[in-house]
Amino acid sequence: MKLQDLVRPNIWNLQPYSSARHEFEGEAEVYLDANENPYGAAFSRYPDPLQGELKKVISAYKNISNQKIFLGNGSDEAIDLLIRIFCTPGQDEILVLPPTYGMYKVCADIADVRVNECLLTKDYQLDVQNIRRVLTSRTKLLFICSPNNPTGNLINHEQVSEVLQFFKGILVLDEAYIDFAEEGSWLTRLDDHPNLVILQTFSKAWGLAGIRLGLAFAPKAIIDLMNKVKPPYNINLLTQQAALQAIKDHVQDKNDQVDEIIFEKTRLAAILNDRPEVLKVYESDANFLLVKFVDPIGVFKHLRADGIVVRDRTKTPLCQGCLRITIGTPHENNLVIKSLNELN
Ligand SMILES: Cc1ncc(COP(=O)(O)O)c(C=O)c1O
Repeated sequence: MKLQDLVRPNIWNLQPYSSARHEFEGEAEVYLDANENPYGAAFSRYPDPLQGELKKVISAYKNISNQKIFLGNGSDEAIDLLIRIFCTPGQDEILVLPPTYGMYKVCADIADVRVNECLLTKDYQLDVQNIRRVLTSRTKLLFICSPNNPTGNLINHEQVSEVLQFFKGILVLDEAYIDFAEEGSWLTRLDDHPNLVILQTFSKAWGLAGIRLGLAFAPKAIIDLMNKVKPPYNINLLTQQAALQAIKDHVQDKNDQVDEIIFEKTRLAAILNDRPEVLKVYESDANFLLVKFVDPIGVFKHLRADGIVVRDRTKTPLCQGCLRITIGTPHENNLVIKSLNELN
């Protein structure tokens, strides 16, 4: 299907806001084009709306053309933009595969876009036949999260490929947790699929949730649409600087932290597996564990009383009895174990 047939006509025809910094390229001596305060110091100027310098560094690090990169105020912004670009309110639909990340549905609900759901299988993989069955000609976006939140598992690559073969809309593959996974990213296959968008983030492995920086990788035509619709200065200067510094100076730190988190995850999983109040620790390719307890709410309250907050997922489909526990520092994980030891 042609991209134009998938995009909302008002977005396809949109004349985007053209910011002062958008229209001018290169260096000038005097900038009187954006109503800034000439006396301000380091942050008096608007940031680069298309984040050229940062994208150049990301492009080299990820080995992908900078024309195929969109940067958002968290990957949540990319999710929101994709829904607004492709789905006409009250008319088009998205398909989500619970149990999964909640923002796909929330963003669609806010945009008044219908959300269809197709549960994952009992082992949290794609129910491909059912997905095929519930897709309609109005399904513009299908969100697949791999490794999936809150279950932690990778989604089988062959199944994703299968869906890509018959789904005519845009498949959004959310790889927020991919740095913790055994298998690699789909980024290397982006060019094989004109309707694939891959989301990643600086919030997890990079340890930069506070700067709010998410990435979308997609064919240039889709990235162009995202840039057309985004707020002009969506990535502030502090964020651009912090991310630049992270990629230039802290890749090794990031990798070391990922290794440490994976090591701690294995340790915590083994300890939890041996505990009588634990029914199951699910395999995880992310930085958290989904754990099924005999009395999950009792455990939740007990941990809470000890000052430890975990995520209650007991009401999430296919996650009955489960808490989601983020892997912390060795000290923090020991506090979880100590608290559980005192459970009676
Ligand atoms: C699967 C998934 N996607 C996206 C996000 C949002 O990430 P960001 O902080 O980049 O908005 C999260 C955050 O928890 C997530 O779990």
